Amino acid sequence: MKYRDSGMPDHELWSTFFNPESILSAMEVGSGIELLIDIGCGYGTFLFPESRIVRQAVGIDIDPGMIEYCRKMIEKDKYQNIELIAGDISSPELSGQLASFIGRADYVTLFNILHCEEPVKLLNTVYRLLKPGGKAGAIHWKHMQTPRGPALEIRPKPEQIAVWAKEAGFILRSELDLPPYHYGLIFTKP
Ligand SMILES: C[S@@+](CC[C@H](N)C(=O)[O-])C[C@H]1O[C@@H](n2cnc3c(N)ncnc32)[C@H](O)[C@@H]1O
Repeated sequence: MKYRDSGMPDHELWSTFFNPESILSAMEVGSGIELLIDIGCGYGTFLFPESRIVRQAVGIDIDPGMIEYCRKMIEKDKYQNIELIAGDISSPELSGQLASFIGRADYVTLFNILHCEEPVKLLNTVYRLLKPGGKAGAIHWKHMQTPRGPALEIRPKPEQIAVWAKEAGFILRSELDLPPYHYGLIFTKP
């Protein structure tokens, strides 16, 4: 199931909201990472910059239009280290496809997606994908008037994400301000 309020505006508009390189640096996406999994990769706003930092990047998205957009970018710019997976991260079918990644990821990104219906279930999946010591990075729209983002009623505050992540077994490592519109949280799997 596509998560609520997770449709995208056109690419030009979406790309004005972020400086992906500086967000990734603040979120500790660094060159030591072998395997990074980007859940709900959208247009690849972060996936493409991630792939220039890490050894292997995997982008997952339920929207065939987003996967097609990323596939064309990969072809055009000849990215060699990106794998795309089309599907619903919360479905048992995708669990099968992800079996080879279980316990192997150094980093999993949850960028602008934790307003989903069952955030702890999603965080449980992320926990399984990570190796011990691996990191999960979540960014989200701040709880204020912003030019995009999910409805305020379902938009999680950082302290809410911290509670969900703790329930899934994570340890909170840091909380960041990512101006102008976002905050970030970094968790580790013990
Ligand atoms: C708000 S966009 C964020 C995209 C990207 N993470 C970013 O920050 O630029 C959320 C993305 O999650 C995808 N998505 C929604 N529900 C999903 C699901 N159940 N499984 C996988 N992807 C999903 C949407 O198709 C969309 O591309």
